Amino acid sequence: MAGKVEAGFPSGIATNQKSTMRGKFITFEGGEGSGKSTQVAGLALRLQKLHIDVKVSREPGGSAGAEAIRHVLLSGAAKPLGPHAEAILFAAARADHLRETIRPALERGQWVISDRFADSTRVYQGVLGNVEPRVIARLEKLTVGELTPDLSIILDLDPKIGLARVTKRRGNAPVDRFEAEEFDFHKKLREAYLDLAAKEPGRVAVVNANADATAVASGVWAVVKERLQPTWRPQRVRDAS
Ligand code: TYD
Repeated sequence: MAGKVEAGFPSGIATNQKSTMRGKFITFEGGEGSGKSTQVAGLALRLQKLHIDVKVSREPGGSAGAEAIRHVLLSGAAKPLGPHAEAILFAAARADHLRETIRPALERGQWVISDRFADSTRVYQGVLGNVEPRVIARLEKLTVGELTPDLSIILDLDPKIGLARVTKRRGNAPVDRFEAEEFDFHKKLREAYLDLAAKEPGRVAVVNANADATAVASGVWAVVKERLQPTWRPQRVRDAS
């Protein structure tokens, strides 16, 4: 593919060096209906007001190859293959997303906000899918390498509220692969995210999502200001993508 620096999966991702001009990398995580997409959009706007150039992305997806894999995963077509195969597919999508979208943007100095990232694999496939931690860790090392997020925000919400929001929003559309899981799955999901936050407090912050969007956005902004100290920029960096 023209313009590609490295070919193949996953070489090149793990060897990435953080440059001093590198933008910040923020990920949002949480259960179904926790309001991630609203908060991602709101944070992007707030950063743009400081003239920080922002690239918003999502997983699974965020690049052409990863969007193709997204369809396979969320339609449930990969479910019969089991959680190991799903973890590998999420990792393959992530490798493409990193190579094609995230890394080039960070290297241009843009800040990247991704709606879900590697913590979703840790929690959904690792804790809930019982894929062994060493397999999850190995996949993460191969795909993410040194490109760990600077900040991961978990939007914490009682799954009863989250699932009710999802049902309302969906209308007559069919449930996706993970929304269709039992209530207990979503309860465990919340616990797994909170455990993850407790284990990595330096990178991961928990924001209470049981409030209106404006109040949640204030919580998100407080964390971003404290951890990443965004400052007004006189110059905009052009998005070459
Ligand atoms: P999506 O429609 O993007 O909804 P949302 O992020 O708002 O929940 O669904 C993505 C689904 O894929 C979601 O149920 C979580 C799941 N997922 C994993 O199981 N593992 C992963 O690594 C990622 C990125 C997502």
